[in-house]
Amino acid sequence: MNTIAVMTSGGDAPGMNSAIRAVVRTAIGAEMEVLGIRRGYSGLLEGDLIPMDAASVGNILQKGGTVLGTSRCAEFLKPEIRQEAANILRRKHVDGLVVIGGNGSFNGAYQLHQEHDIPVVGVPGTIDNDIQGTHYTIGFDTAVETGVYAVDKIRDTANAHDRIFLVEVMGRHSPAIAIHTGVCTGAEHVIHTPENTDYDTLVSGIRRGRKRGKNSFIIIVAEGQVPGSAYQVQKHLADNYQIASHVAILGHLQRGGSPTAHDRFIAASMGFHAVQALKTGEVATVTACRDGRIQLVPLQECLEKNDAIDAFSLNLTQQLAI
Ligand code: F6P
Repeated sequence: MNTIAVMTSGGDAPGMNSAIRAVVRTAIGAEMEVLGIRRGYSGLLEGDLIPMDAASVGNILQKGGTVLGTSRCAEFLKPEIRQEAANILRRKHVDGLVVIGGNGSFNGAYQLHQEHDIPVVGVPGTIDNDIQGTHYTIGFDTAVETGVYAVDKIRDTANAHDRIFLVEVMGRHSPAIAIHTGVCTGAEHVIHTPENTDYDTLVSGIRRGRKRGKNSFIIIVAEGQVPGSAYQVQKHLADNYQIASHVAILGHLQRGGSPTAHDRFIAASMGFHAVQALKTGEVATVTACRDGRIQLVPLQECLEKNDAIDAFSLNLTQQLAI
């Protein structure tokens, strides 16, 4: 393997730069050439590949976002477009590809391998922590940390005014960020599916809390399938229980910022293992985190989303908020 390429794809996640740095420097250490693909699959289709040396990834690992840029490329679902991508990779003499991203990006990589025999390795990178086959995805820890930082500030003003706040956090269909943020901020409740929320229990908790002198309530709402779900909860509380509340939507705030040490560390290890896997021919794999260490697992096992609810942690929030 002489030349490898690396890309970041899908939603950016803090820690991706640490993974890029590790891929580039591990490959250079193994005497390979490295090309950086800008803006994910969209950039690949435009042939936007740039040579990367050790200096090109200096002073980046503490930065949020991704120095390579990223994109969501719906076109890549078409086989004829993937054919074009494979042709470009061949023309550029790319012998192996590292894709840092979520399960949409992994699906694209899997097809490239299946249809065109491109050696690929996936590195899990998304704040949502929702990829099957790995216990951890780069960016999750930082996103939770940012959520906690924001909720702590909201708690101050909620306390000062005796208010109820509905704080909506990212995660697409996964409740993982919401549940972790809930436990770490002492939230009174976490709503992970607005449609199935037991409002009577939620409201009796608020009334009980008020009786014992609680003067602020934080309810974390997981961004769900319905856009603006926190506003729906607000309306439901007002219409059916005459309870007023404020809404704060954290949104993309949670995707930015300097990665935590945990994200930097995992990303560096995964980037290293991705290059090793290309070197040893263990391709069509993912650098998954399992049992506290990085292991190569078949890419095929990591194509689906994992939206499982961590029932223990969800319950923990409520148990401790009495
Ligand atoms: O997958 C990461 C994520 O931030 C989700 O939590 C969120 O639902 C989505 O991306 C937002 O995507 P975009 O930035 O493309 O609107």
